[in-house]
Amino acid sequence: MIRLNNCIKGMKYRGCPIWFMRQAGRYLPEFRKIREKNPNFIKLCLNSNLINEITLQPLKRFDLDAAIIFSDILMIPYGLGQKVQFKKGIGPVLGDINFNKIINTSNTQFIKKLLPIYKGIEKIKYKKNHNIIKEKSIIGFVGAPWTLLVYMLNKKSPSNNFNFNTIYKKDQNLVKKILKKLEYYICLHVEKQIESGANIIQIFDSWAGLLPEKELTKYCYIPTLKIVEYLRSFKVPIICFPKGIGKNYINFCKTVKPDCISIDYEVDPRWAKEKLNGIPIQGGLDPRLLLGDKEKIKKETEKYLNIFKDYPYIFNLGHGILPKTKPRTIEYLIKIIRDKQ
Ligand code: CP3
Repeated sequence: MIRLNNCIKGMKYRGCPIWFMRQAGRYLPEFRKIREKNPNFIKLCLNSNLINEITLQPLKRFDLDAAIIFSDILMIPYGLGQKVQFKKGIGPVLGDINFNKIINTSNTQFIKKLLPIYKGIEKIKYKKNHNIIKEKSIIGFVGAPWTLLVYMLNKKSPSNNFNFNTIYKKDQNLVKKILKKLEYYICLHVEKQIESGANIIQIFDSWAGLLPEKELTKYCYIPTLKIVEYLRSFKVPIICFPKGIGKNYINFCKTVKPDCISIDYEVDPRWAKEKLNGIPIQGGLDPRLLLGDKEKIKKETEKYLNIFKDYPYIFNLGHGILPKTKPRTIEYLIKIIRDKQ
């Protein structure tokens, strides 16, 4: 049936499944065209027809094994009443956090605000008999509690000199309470995505690497584990991406035990294969390589394919496709992988 799901289950399959983080995005002219007509990014993320269309754009072009829902991790803070805007050249800009608003948000209000996302997923699912999505996975996603906390308190993407203490020094009690709420709403948001048709979930902890090593258990592993445990009963595979934690991928996997682990471009793939206890692995290739020359792309891609040839491996990058990537390069990359199969 679905190659990507089968790979995670450790079932025999031929070749490795392929999808890319940010496969629906600015590197695609057809996305930019829609984006120009929709200057408000949040509104775009709440337009179920366009969610459907944008999600399927990369599948129309490329031989991929999955569609990832076009949405954003910051839809959760938005659903909890925080102002979220996306500014050109800056990225996300959030309003002040209002804890009372978060506390007073009811499930019904939250679901109502994000309903177009779930409707968008349903639209994709109902195309199931349509060739484009037939036998492909539908990936839903969320940000991990820590990464969402960073955005909600920092109000923008953290810069290189982000200091953990800026969050740590805030009222500790408040931080704890926000994390609890986030865990709850992340589970709810995932549950609704699964109910609407998502059959794989990826948890993005994009800023896990900002945590000092001694804080990883408290802010990264345990909050993620709670979500993974809650979701077990839904029997949908969960891929975790705790970006930037280096050797601590070992401890992450030991504690959280995800169904699949997504490695970033700083992780040595040979090391990962040896150390991560046989957990299916995804990704790794540096997205910056795709801006460079073809020979190097081929060499590095084949390196990953050779290392993981007898291992449950999902081809993906070590982070999202960069906006400057040429669609032609993605096509070239997929061809290298498929030709090896
Ligand atoms: O992968 C996909 O194709 C699905 C869609 C998707 C988006 N955001 C759409 C998007 C996914 C999975 C995300 C996740 C996301 N969003 C993460 C985790 C993954 C990662 O990159 O680490 C994070 C940290 C965010 C927050 C966010 N959203 C940022 C920092 C930005 C601006 C910078 C950037 O990369 O563009 C966004 C905006 C955003 N989200 C765009 C898209 C297509 C670009 C919007 C535009 O057109 O300006």
